[in-house]
Amino acid sequence: MNKLQDWPEPIVRVQSLSDSGIPLIPERYVKPILQRPSVNPTTSNDVNIPVIDLARLYGDDHALRATILDQISIACREWGFFQVINHGVSPQLMDRAREVWRQFFHSPMEVKQAYANTPKTYEGYGSRLGVEKGAILDWSDYYFLHYLPLPLKDYNKWPAITADCRAVLDEYGKQLVELCGKLMKVLSINLGLGEEQLQNAFGGENIGACLRVNFYPKCPQPDLTLGLSSHSDPGGMTLLLPDSNVPGLQVRKDGNWITVKPVPHAFIVNIGDQIQVLSNATCKSVEHRVMVNSSEERLSLAFFYNPRSDIPIEPLKELVAPDRPPLYPAMTFDEYRLFIRMRGPCGKSQVESLKSPR
Ligand code: OGA
Ligand code: NI
Repeated sequence: MNKLQDWPEPIVRVQSLSDSGIPLIPERYVKPILQRPSVNPTTSNDVNIPVIDLARLYGDDHALRATILDQISIACREWGFFQVINHGVSPQLMDRAREVWRQFFHSPMEVKQAYANTPKTYEGYGSRLGVEKGAILDWSDYYFLHYLPLPLKDYNKWPAITADCRAVLDEYGKQLVELCGKLMKVLSINLGLGEEQLQNAFGGENIGACLRVNFYPKCPQPDLTLGLSSHSDPGGMTLLLPDSNVPGLQVRKDGNWITVKPVPHAFIVNIGDQIQVLSNATCKSVEHRVMVNSSEERLSLAFFYNPRSDIPIEPLKELVAPDRPPLYPAMTFDEYRLFIRMRGPCGKSQVESLKSPR
C-alpha cells in the first residue's frame, strides 16, 4: 500500500471556509493550547532579523565585501534567517509574480480545482501537508511546482491563468536560481571551503528547485490557529518573498518568537535542514511559523533550493574533526523529505531526531 497515493479524507479549501463567513473555525483547525500564537512571549517590536545589503558583494572594495560575508556568516550561525536587499532580482518581476499568484487564488474554484494536487508529488493546488488521518490542519491553501531538475519541470502542472503567467514564473525561477547560486558561494567561503564546494555537495548542476505559494485567508479566530505550524525547512535554502503589506512570519530566537518586519523588495533567506547537516550544524535551520489575522489575507512565495535528491547528504569531511564529530548520519533528500510529506510540519523534530547518539 502506498500511503502517499491520496489524501486520507476529503479536502476542504480554507479559502472557501473563510469566504463562507463562519464566525467560528472548525475544530480541525484549533491548535492545542501550547501551539497557539499567543503562547511564548514575542520579543519587543524593535527586534528584526538581520538586513544585509548585497550591492557591493561583487565590487572592488575588498574590505566592504569581507564585511558583507561576515554579516551573512553571523546571520547563518546565530539566526538561520536574514533579509537581503540589492540582491539583483528585478523588483518589477517580484511584484508581477505576486500578482499572478494573487490572481490565481482569486480565480473561480473550478479553475483552481483543475490543478488539485495529491500527496504523491504535492504539485498543484493543495490545502494540507501530511497524510495523517484526523490531523489538526493549518489555516492555509498553497500551490506547489517544480523548476529543477529539468525532468521534473512540467508546465501542465503550472497554472495557465493569464497569457504571460508561465513566462513570468519561468523568469522568476531563473533569477532566483541565480541568486541562490551566489549565496551558496558565500556560504561555502564562510565555512572555510572553496567557493564551489557547497554547490558540489548539493550535486552540482542537478540540484532541485521548487516553489510553494502560500495563501492565508482571513481567519475569524486567529488566536486559536496558525497559518503554518512551526517547522524548519527540510531543503537546502529558502528565498521567501513575503506579502508586502501583511506581516505574519515569526522566527524562533532564544525561545521567543520574533515577528519579521519585511523590507520592501527584499527576500527573506533562511537555511534549511540540508545545509545544517552539510555544515555539521555551523549553519542553523531555524524554526518558524505563520500567524493569520481576521482582517486581511496574506500571500507569500517560498522558493526552495535543494540538493540533488538521490545522493547522500552528510557533514562535509572538512568540517569534521576529532573534537567536532559528525552530528548526522548520511541520508538522501528523497528519504528525508518523506517524513514531512507523511507527517506535515513538526517543529525541528526531524533534523534533531537524526543526531547520532554519542
Ligand atoms: C514555508 C514558510 C512562510 C510564510 O513556506 O516554508 O515558512 O511567510 N512560509 O509564508
Ligand atoms: Ni518554512
